[in-house]
Amino acid sequence: MNPPALGVDGDGLDQRMDDNAALLHRVEQLRVAVDRRLGELAPRVGDAPERLVAAVRYALLAPGKRFRPMLTLLAAAEFGAPEGAALDVACAFEMVHAASLILDDLPAMDDAGLRRGLPTIHRAFDEATAILAGVGLLNQAFAVVSGDGALSGDLRAELCGRISASVGFLGLIAGQARDLLDRDQVRDLAEIDRLNHEKTGVLIMASAQAGARIAGADAAAVEAVGDFARHVGLAFQIRDDLIDAQGSTEAAGKDTGKDAGMTTAVSALGTGGAAQAMDDHLRAAWAALAAAGAGDLLAGYVGGLFAGRKAAA
Ligand code: IPE
Ligand code: IPE
Ligand code: MG
Ligand code: MG
Ligand code: MG
Repeated sequence: MNPPALGVDGDGLDQRMDDNAALLHRVEQLRVAVDRRLGELAPRVGDAPERLVAAVRYALLAPGKRFRPMLTLLAAAEFGAPEGAALDVACAFEMVHAASLILDDLPAMDDAGLRRGLPTIHRAFDEATAILAGVGLLNQAFAVVSGDGALSGDLRAELCGRISASVGFLGLIAGQARDLLDRDQVRDLAEIDRLNHEKTGVLIMASAQAGARIAGADAAAVEAVGDFARHVGLAFQIRDDLIDAQGSTEAAGKDTGKDAGMTTAVSALGTGGAAQAMDDHLRAAWAALAAAGAGDLLAGYVGGLFAGRKAAA
């Protein structure tokens, strides 16, 4: 399967343009719903010390792509979940992601100054507040899932387990630790894929699979969605590395050139080779999606995001 072709000539162009406009509209509606619900689920003044609440809301509600919650919501929609059934779980994934960004930007990690177009939280507030905000958000994600009345108790427990596994010592935390080790060591593509899978891909996989689970997709479909998202996650980190190498800080809304001296797909393969590796993962992702028996929403959304990168490259 390929993502919807845009702007090609021939029969059906009007229909494809209509379909694309409808998809963009739907994605935008979902993004707005995520932002609104995140605002409700985040701590408020009075819940906790004012400075901590302000810092959490600053980092969580800053304008990000909401890629992970969108995967949850679109996967849920693909498999027929009722409208809104996956919204809180989707927001929990964004909380985990926002926490990971806070920690990733700390002076002890990537020492970044800009995130989502704003000064990083440790610069806008202070380092201790940033650490507490990150750990607090991570914790809040589990409270959101375990308290989600739209889901059965068994499913809530399963999803907490899936999130924990994706963030833990076999997932994001492990990848971030590996990323800090011998940053300039030469890695082959398999090693880079492993690192990228841990630090970025596992959470993306869990986000998409959670949506399929909430919709009651069968085990084979959940596995195929996972395979799709595994390749998307690998492509996503390469896309991010290409942005670091080629993008402007202004357009990216975050520091670029941060990966200089590190081994990434770009340093190992060059920008052309990295773009090729990204495309290879996307091709594998479309094949997996076809096997999942799902596709138009996820393929259209993910395809559109990566098409944007190519246009910017
Ligand atoms: C950035 O993630 C960190 C990576 C895992 C590559 P995003 O590119 O999804 O960042 P936001 O959420 O849009 O800010
Ligand atoms: C981040 O990778 C992976 C995370 C788990 C946050 P990067 O360090 O490349 O992400 P950016 O470029 O700072 O967003
Ligand atoms: Mg990093
Ligand atoms: Mg970083
Ligand atoms: Mg990066």
